[in-house]
Amino acid sequence: MTSLQTRVCFVIPTYNEALNVTSLLQRLTELYPSPDVTFLIVDDESPDGTGRLVQASAATDHRVHLLEGKRRGFGQAYVRGMTYALDVLDADVVVQMDADFSHDPADVGKLLAGLSDGADVVIGSRYVSGGAVDRRWHVGRRMLSRWGNRFARLIAGMKAVRDCTAGFKAIKATALRAAKVEEIRVQGHTFQVVLLHRLIRTGAKVIEEPIYFRDRDRGHTKLGIGSILEFFYNVWWLYLASHWTFVKFVLTGLTGILVNLGSFFLLLELGMHKFLASPIAIELSIISNFLINNHWSFADRVMTDRAHTRIMKYNLVALSTLVLSYVTFIVLSFLFSEASPVLLQGCGILPAGFLNYFMNSSWTFRETDRDGPR
Ligand code: GDD
Ligand code: MN
Repeated sequence: MTSLQTRVCFVIPTYNEALNVTSLLQRLTELYPSPDVTFLIVDDESPDGTGRLVQASAATDHRVHLLEGKRRGFGQAYVRGMTYALDVLDADVVVQMDADFSHDPADVGKLLAGLSDGADVVIGSRYVSGGAVDRRWHVGRRMLSRWGNRFARLIAGMKAVRDCTAGFKAIKATALRAAKVEEIRVQGHTFQVVLLHRLIRTGAKVIEEPIYFRDRDRGHTKLGIGSILEFFYNVWWLYLASHWTFVKFVLTGLTGILVNLGSFFLLLELGMHKFLASPIAIELSIISNFLINNHWSFADRVMTDRAHTRIMKYNLVALSTLVLSYVTFIVLSFLFSEASPVLLQGCGILPAGFLNYFMNSSWTFRETDRDGPR
């Protein structure tokens, strides 16, 4: 990855880092002298004059760039910086890190080496063996980081990653583009989790390299309560996002239950025999569910089958669903002849619903294989 053709861009957000930024840039430019490396400082008009110091560094080394903007939070600074690195500086690899020396500039080589070995994302990780955080971090901050990580790994479904709030990563441009970093809307430190979640979901191969995270010597952390609240709130959104199709399917199913039981009840009221009313009610709910699933639940999939094949398959699945719930209804009717028919009709919905989801998800609305070479 450190070969001549690879353009590596460091993206470093700063807010009031006048005490760190000059020495950081000096250290980085010495360590990474290749002309293919650029250093992009994303400063949000820091009142302490960080921007001017960056301009001074840029005057002595033209690989240093300053991207200035209004303050919209740490996450948005990264969105802006990474987009600029991809689109303007034409980076092949983006390295993200803090400006306060918490991330040792000398560790970047290790991250880049991981990319050469075939990973798309290499995390500088505090929570794999060999990694650590500074003992100076007070117990509250330590717990927040530990438990924040556990929470995100569990809820957002990223168990394989130990340090998913890490701010030190090397990322291939291909992976960053696939993850659509420019669409990320969160403002605070949650950015790290959201980005990682997107990278994983779009198929990036992620590995972790142990690092020692040093507490800053100069300046102050900008991690505030707003950022922490945003984190816990957003992790739940990630949970819903990764199960969104299923959530939509279940909601669709709920409307199906209303259609099913509602029409069954009406047909009974009209004097129809229950053994005839049952399949008609089931069929009506199948039709309404198809329309909603096709136009909503699975609408964002890039699907293998053409629409007419899909409709055919859906009808076959519907048929098996109808048979399963009808058989369930008949069997239960004989087993519990005293029970209310509406209740028994309802009992057929659950097994039929699961069968319906798995067959439709993996067959009818099957996604195109996206695992091409990247
Ligand atoms: N442009 C910009 N705008 N930069 C910002 C802003 C902002 O609003 N807020 C913070 N920064 C910059 C800081 O100047 C620093 O270079 C870097 O972002 C990290 O900010 P800190 O305030 O030092 O963060 P931290 O040390 O509390 O958090 C670190 O650890 C977290 C995990 O425990 C960071 O690495 C986080 O990314 C990480 O999630
Ligand atoms: Mn810091």
